[in-house]
Amino acid sequence: MKLKSIRELPIRGKRLFLRLDLNVPLSAPDAEGNRHVLDDTRIREAIPTVQYAREQGARIIIASHLGRPKGKRNEEFSLLPAADRLAELIGSEVTLMDDCVGEGIELKVAGLQNGDIMVLENLRFHKEEEENDLGFAQQLARLCDVYVTDAFGTAHREHASTHRLPSILPDRGMGFLIEKELKYFDGIMKNPAQPFYLILGGAKVSDKIKSIFSLLRSVNGVVIGGAMAYAFMKARGEVIPSEWKQPAPEDVEAAKLLFAEAEKRKIPFMLPTDTNQGFDIGPKTTQAYIEFLSSAKTVFWNGPLGWFEKPEYATGTNAVAEALSNQACIKVVGGGDTVSAITQAGVAAKFDHLSTGGGAALEYLETGSLPGIEILKAPYRPSSPDLV
Ligand code: 3PG
Repeated sequence: MKLKSIRELPIRGKRLFLRLDLNVPLSAPDAEGNRHVLDDTRIREAIPTVQYAREQGARIIIASHLGRPKGKRNEEFSLLPAADRLAELIGSEVTLMDDCVGEGIELKVAGLQNGDIMVLENLRFHKEEEENDLGFAQQLARLCDVYVTDAFGTAHREHASTHRLPSILPDRGMGFLIEKELKYFDGIMKNPAQPFYLILGGAKVSDKIKSIFSLLRSVNGVVIGGAMAYAFMKARGEVIPSEWKQPAPEDVEAAKLLFAEAEKRKIPFMLPTDTNQGFDIGPKTTQAYIEFLSSAKTVFWNGPLGWFEKPEYATGTNAVAEALSNQACIKVVGGGDTVSAITQAGVAAKFDHLSTGGGAALEYLETGSLPGIEILKAPYRPSSPDLV
């Protein structure tokens, strides 16, 4: 079956289940005990779909998880701060329910008018969500007529709201955010304008090895920063000064495998030649990376080049971000930290796409598919307990 866009679905006057990824970082409670959203990127990115659904007169039921409450109700993980932020951003009333399933919620849904928006409380307060439970999905299905997901950041999870529920509803599709994510990721995987360079940073290589392997099929060069660089340096036989964070053995092994693959494919790998106390790339490296990247037609950046949360170690990341921002090339950024780093550098608006997916983006790069998107194309199976 074809992957449908929300534009192709009948939603006027219908109860629309809108699965979003409102899993956003929250502050510690303030003096009144309220938490606040620290980074609202994921909420902002969902707004076009929410606005469209409102304009079309859908009765909107937004559902999401937040954090990992492990199947139990826990106010620390309430969606209240995210629902409040959503209301502020769209300038309209948004009602948070005290649960996500049950008769009380069904009654509230029955009272929705066209264009109304409600947010269900955290799906993961029920352990059945992560178990991809059919009975739980059937309870969610009682709330709606149409299913739309814009939860790209959660599309790698086979959970009841992302996987089982769409399998039992005939009218399902994706929102504008997923459409945009797929457009950019498909672009860099299938037909990137060349030269295509990969910027890698952050701490762990082993977590990302499969996606990096996949990307090595299409990239023309790689530059490395962050603590990850030490795994590559050690893999090359260099001694890492004892005062720097030593790479884990599995990261060094992963780096060796990637070096071997890059050598086979004759892909240049650039490593830092100087650092700022081991927490940032140094000025010579920064200059060399900027020069190397200056011919790029496509760049994919995953992982900050230094400890960017500390202003004294954000210099390398900021300088490379600034240089790229003035360059005519496709610039795609993946991973929550990297998006925060580019935003902090003040150049986010000059990048083509800041992905809302961390794990999901890496899995899509590795396999070219995500369970929460594939299920939208599968034949619908009203009550089958077995999903492929
Ligand atoms: C994320 O932040 O990567 C997504 O919201 C998925 O969250 P999870 O890793 O807890 O499933």
